[in-house]
Amino acid sequence: MPKLGVNVDHVATLRQARGGIEPDPIYAAVVCELAGADSIVAHLREDRRHINDNDIRLLRETVKTKLNLEMSINKEIVTVAKKVLPDEATLVPEKRKELTTEGGLDIVKGFKLIERAVQELKSKGIVVSLFIDPAKRQVEASKKAGADFVELHTGTYAESKSRLESKKRLKKIIDATSFAHSVGIGVNAGHGLNYLNTIAVAKISGIEELNIGHSIISRAIFVGLPEAVRQMKVLANG
Ligand code: PXP
Repeated sequence: MPKLGVNVDHVATLRQARGGIEPDPIYAAVVCELAGADSIVAHLREDRRHINDNDIRLLRETVKTKLNLEMSINKEIVTVAKKVLPDEATLVPEKRKELTTEGGLDIVKGFKLIERAVQELKSKGIVVSLFIDPAKRQVEASKKAGADFVELHTGTYAESKSRLESKKRLKKIIDATSFAHSVGIGVNAGHGLNYLNTIAVAKISGIEELNIGHSIISRAIFVGLPEAVRQMKVLANG
């Protein structure tokens, strides 16, 4: 039964639209936890386009479940993480012009720099997860780099245009999950998951946590944040 991590970046994006103080991602994190979220995820981007350094500091002080900091392997960001000490760090690729994280981190190609970031974070007691495409060689390289978890990118599955395509892409996630288990690395999953496509992923045996943001915050506009989290938690729990 996977746990549910709620990404609060989208609350900060709305705040930044006016450059003011509301809605507050810290307040959102508290509401999510009270509604049953098992962890809070926030991405401190290099360009600080939504979550900022002060948010991360306050989240660290406020979050009672688990704070999962999404981050690039940029030196400056690694230094922030080593100071803030999130419970977990999920390393993601980052391009300045992208709307959201596109594709997984290529661990094979960027091995040396990624391995260094993993070891630096682990030396501070931070659990490290690598956001990767569901491919065997990426899982292998993640294990070699010393990561505790991989987060399998579900975006391609989520964007499937037919049932057949969706089935094939889900199979890749299933295979990557069992391969990860065979080499002794934990598995999380996320990106693009919503109230329709989450249940099939939640049913995959061996996925420990689903990290979901956009869909929950979108539904919150209509049903309120606690209800949106509760509804997703039911789906995540299979
Ligand atoms: N996991 C990772 C690694 C991500 O980069 C994101 C997007 O910030 C998510 C999960 C959540 O994706 P979504 O907002 O599409 O649910």
